[in-house]
Amino acid sequence: MTAVERLGAYHLIRALDSGGPDDPQPGQFYMLSSAERWGGGEDERPYLPRAFSYARAREGELSFLLEDIGPGTARLAELRPGEGLDVVGPLGIGWRPPGEGSRPVLVGGGIGTAPLLCLQDELGAGATVLLGFRSAAHAEAAGLFAGEPELATDDGSVGRQALVTDLLREELDADPAATVFACGPPPMLESVRAVCAELAVPAQLALESGMACGFGACFGCVVPTRDGYIRLCVDGPVLDADQLESAL
Ligand SMILES: Cc1cc2nc3c(=O)[nH]c(=O)nc-3n(C[C@H](O)[C@H](O)[C@H](O)COP(=O)(O)OP(=O)(O)OC[C@H]3O[C@@H](n4cnc5c(N)ncnc54)[C@H](O)[C@@H]3O)c2cc1C
Ligand code: FES
Repeated sequence: MTAVERLGAYHLIRALDSGGPDDPQPGQFYMLSSAERWGGGEDERPYLPRAFSYARAREGELSFLLEDIGPGTARLAELRPGEGLDVVGPLGIGWRPPGEGSRPVLVGGGIGTAPLLCLQDELGAGATVLLGFRSAAHAEAAGLFAGEPELATDDGSVGRQALVTDLLREELDADPAATVFACGPPPMLESVRAVCAELAVPAQLALESGMACGFGACFGCVVPTRDGYIRLCVDGPVLDADQLESAL
């Protein structure tokens, strides 16, 4: 583990992964746990590793953006330089390139902006980036992107007081020759799916489900698709929107 920085409402973890591949694919994820004090002791809950999309990979260093929402993320957020971080990955199937002649539109909600950072690194700063956050403190994560993403916040403290899906609707109404790449909370993803289905715009959605193993063994992460249940950790986490009846 190299460093944990506070970034508004989130934390940015930078970690050396000297033993791992240096070319993870945007949209893939890692299972993380601290080497010490990861539950199991007296009064502690035994933890499973937690799944995190990598935000960036540069010269053997991985970065992860995380939101402290429970015991695992709280422990990771308090790691100090020199403390060990166990990193397993990269896992799963990430984003696929946009179709020929189709402009990429990246849509992120809250902590779901994380896997869009490495995607923007790959696609270049010309990709349109639309981001939605609860407040200005959460929107500090937008500063990690190149260029100037369009911002919406719930409270109007930064950017427009709107939903990020309102920005997407306007963007696609103006020019529907796009491929949409989205990650965020389920209601946002469902709204992206519905708008893109209505306008016949191809979309890829990075979903979440509870993951115990991360590599296909436990079936804890299954999600329904039009073709039946799939294990999100090996068949996703990025799915084509038209595989889904609903992203909820
Ligand atoms: C592929 C993938 C990529 C992810 N990438 C990131 C990331 O980049 N940054 C980040 O902060 N988080 C990410 N997450 C979510 C992260 O794994 C969970 O927030 C984490 O497991 C919470 O652990 P905890 O012990 O802190 O809280 P827990 O006690 O495990 O969870 C706290 C609350 O969140 C709910 N919850 C936990 N995990 C999920 C989930 N996967 N889906 C829906 N609800 C859940 C629990 O039911 C509980 O109510 C990702 C999850 C997946 C599956
Ligand atoms: S997390 Fe275990 S099968 Fe997907």
